[in-house]
Amino acid sequence: MWFLLVILLLLSVMYYKRSRKEFSLLPSPGACLPLIGHYKIFTHGSDPTTLIWDLYRKYSSNGMMLLNVFGLNNVFVGDFNVLKQIYNDPNVQNRGHNDHKKCGMANKISIDRGTNPGPLAGVIMSQGKAWTEQRRTALKVLRDFGFGKSTMEEMIQDEVKQFISYLKQTSCTPIDIAGKFNLPILNALWKITVGESFEYSDPKLIEMLEKLTELFQKLAKPTGVFAITYPWLFKIFPNLFQRQLDIEVNQAIANLMRNSIEQHKKTLDVNSPRDVIDTMLIEIENTTDKESSFYQDVGYNHLVNTLIDLFIAGSETTSTTLTWAVLYMVRESDVQRKVQTELDTVVGGSRLPSLADRPNLPYTEAVLMEIQRCANIVPNGVHHMSSKPVYVNGMIIPANTMISPCFTEILKGDYWGDGMVFRPERFLDESGAVKFDEHFIPFSIGKRRCLGETLAKAELFLFFASIVQQFNLQPEISGQLPTEDCITGITVLPKPFKVICKPRS
Ligand code: HEM
Repeated sequence: MWFLLVILLLLSVMYYKRSRKEFSLLPSPGACLPLIGHYKIFTHGSDPTTLIWDLYRKYSSNGMMLLNVFGLNNVFVGDFNVLKQIYNDPNVQNRGHNDHKKCGMANKISIDRGTNPGPLAGVIMSQGKAWTEQRRTALKVLRDFGFGKSTMEEMIQDEVKQFISYLKQTSCTPIDIAGKFNLPILNALWKITVGESFEYSDPKLIEMLEKLTELFQKLAKPTGVFAITYPWLFKIFPNLFQRQLDIEVNQAIANLMRNSIEQHKKTLDVNSPRDVIDTMLIEIENTTDKESSFYQDVGYNHLVNTLIDLFIAGSETTSTTLTWAVLYMVRESDVQRKVQTELDTVVGGSRLPSLADRPNLPYTEAVLMEIQRCANIVPNGVHHMSSKPVYVNGMIIPANTMISPCFTEILKGDYWGDGMVFRPERFLDESGAVKFDEHFIPFSIGKRRCLGETLAKAELFLFFASIVQQFNLQPEISGQLPTEDCITGITVLPKPFKVICKPRS
């Protein structure tokens, strides 16, 4: 009996060593144990963002570091040029394993969203031909319905006006600003996509957005990785790591999308599409190619998932950035005053800033860039997966390896010199004009870079410039500034803080 056990143990160690061989040349934090992976991740006390950055700074070489957590291999890239090469490589555009049956993440999310396990539909998590088709079409229809157009600006400005009147009603009482931007930001996108907006006071929606934030925080923890690598555990423990929350949030959002699609189907006029859903429905109706991701039921499933993706990617990210914007203005009162002076000179006080003012507001623009750099709201980006072995900077990354940016290093690391300091002037040249820096990539880089960048930039500018033009943003207690301490998830939120929004006139 003992003899058999020893043989079994030896065989599993040999198998494990062989399976690790192809990763052996990649720099990593020390010993990698069976089942657990690089145990150093558990011996560090810091939050997941700081942890990855600490490990990266200590153990990376050639711009990369391999981290194995519960059997999942993830290469973190903290060098701008290496990331640029990798994220532009056609063989690094997947999100999951080549074989979807081996992709725990795709299967888990499909089930969470109420569909059969399988390759993921939509834009964010799809891959191959389906991703190319869905991304191209989503970009086109969003552009047709307003991205980068004056109609989009009007929609955002409607929300800005409502938000400003809400802030005025707070009558200088300190408010907790986190979460307040979610609905106005979502509404601007929703008018373009679904042709309708949500009620700010809709309790169901508020709850859904709060749960979404919770889900984002949960997914970034090591337990989130555990859930993806050992999905069979849910068969034994159905509510392990609060799995029911994942299902509840995903299905609530999926049902919202399915209902919208059904409503649109009933009133669709193929000659006069009203919004993104109508246009996608027409595309589905016109598709006869059985291989296309727009064909019949497959097409509807992609549409549901694309809408979920826009909802998820389009609300949390921009509103979190705006929360940081308020925090930095409270902390940096000199910067706030300089932005106000520029806005007063260029825009005046009788109207709100518009996108046409943007080229004439270089300081405001530089401050926004510095806010995005320092806030670093998606510190480990969205992972890509290699579909073939990739040769980069003298190393080989095997096929089916997760690759994630270490944005904290890219946005705040050595390249910037004083990367931890809030200093908008780094984005201005001697003449005071905006100085762009290719290392500034909060929306990522390469073929899968953020699809909503144009909308996000417009929203950030219009909300930020209007709020700073209209209010003096002050700490709850004079002299007690909010800290940069944060709550880490897929996106990084500041710890709750209160702000007084004092009207300037
Ligand atoms: C400040 C706001 C935002 C930031 C910082 C941000 C950042 C990012 C990042 C880092 C990625 C990953 C890109 C990659 O895989 O390399 C991404 C992807 C994506 N973003 Fe954004 N995003 C923002 C706003 C938005 C908005 C408003 C929308 C929706 C309209 C959006 C839609 C998407 C989609 C659909 C993807 C997936 C693209 C693909 O897989 O092809 N994002 N974003």
